[in-house]
Amino acid sequence: MRLGNLQLHNNLVLAPMAGITDYPFRQLAREMGCGLTFTEMVSAEGLLRKGESFLKMVEGEHPVSVQLFGSKPEVLAEAAAKAEAMGADAIDLNMGCPAQKVVKTGAGADLMRFPEKVEGLLIAMRKKVACPLTVKIRSGWDEEQINAVEISKLAEGCGVDAITVHPRTRAQSFRGRADWSVIAAVKRAVRIPVIGNGDVNTPVLIQKMIEETECDGVMIGRGALGNPWIFSEKHSGFPEKGPTISPEERKGMIHHHLSLIQSYYEERNLTPQIRKHLYWYTKGLPNCATFHSQLSSLKGKEKLLQAFHSYFDSIQRREPCQRSVPEEDRSITGWVEKAL
Ligand SMILES: Cc1cc2nc3c(=O)[nH]c(=O)nc-3n(C[C@H](O)[C@H](O)[C@H](O)COP(=O)(O)O)c2cc1C
Repeated sequence: MRLGNLQLHNNLVLAPMAGITDYPFRQLAREMGCGLTFTEMVSAEGLLRKGESFLKMVEGEHPVSVQLFGSKPEVLAEAAAKAEAMGADAIDLNMGCPAQKVVKTGAGADLMRFPEKVEGLLIAMRKKVACPLTVKIRSGWDEEQINAVEISKLAEGCGVDAITVHPRTRAQSFRGRADWSVIAAVKRAVRIPVIGNGDVNTPVLIQKMIEETECDGVMIGRGALGNPWIFSEKHSGFPEKGPTISPEERKGMIHHHLSLIQSYYEERNLTPQIRKHLYWYTKGLPNCATFHSQLSSLKGKEKLLQAFHSYFDSIQRREPCQRSVPEEDRSITGWVEKAL
């Protein structure tokens, strides 16, 4: 897939996820084969105020797209220029965040309701950056206002290089199923690359989304949690529910991920990071419920690591196990709604 002047080595993309797609997670996804990673969404105003420390986080990282949210053309344009100058390979405008605190400022999914405003933002941003400019949209504001096709054509007309479609409305937030027919409709309507997103958590679903929608790339969010193997070619031919990862391989991956986390975060911020990733890596494994209740009560890095080792000792004696893939991960849906 090619976004403007940026050639990617494959068409798999790590979704922007606030509180999750930090530097260690993006690095891991890239190591596993992911073609493009996105930062968590970043406030354009915040970036202009204290951007140096933030943008350090993309230093030396390629290819990475910095996702901005905001609602003022001059602020978004300046922030985009600053991010590009500091090493971003692409800039993305967030038009999908459903959180009330973002929407009420006129940013995120609120933009889906105001095409003329979007045009002003994109024209201003396009003038300021030479790198690929992309947008990430939803189906529309609600069931009565599905306008992904209209917004996509408008974005293409403003010189945007690619569009990611997460086909849920703002009203749906993260509930219900993503309606892939909206991705297909956008793909038929524009000539720039379309990246499909929503409910892909196995290699089979990657293929299915491409076949059903003819999208150019597939963006994966929740399906990558505790599952960086989703980006790996080695696993692309695996059965319906995804690859069977031996406990040794899973443990090795967790060790590696935790070491990336430990070299990135200060000691006092480690515990919540370690806890959430241990939870995701072990979801669906034998006796995980007991381990998860331990995770939520234990405090401090050392105790969490001890619990992780004894849990793996207890399952390592078993046959390689396939993680069950939940239909809809309600725990994360609730968590996102609180976190955003
Ligand atoms: C915890 C969490 C945080 C998210 N943060 C962002 C964000 O910062 N920017 C954005 O455009 N989408 C964000 N999303 C939406 C995802 O990028 C993606 O569109 C959505 O989860 C659907 O894809 P999936 O089914 O592969 O998870 C977030 C989703 C989750 C679960």
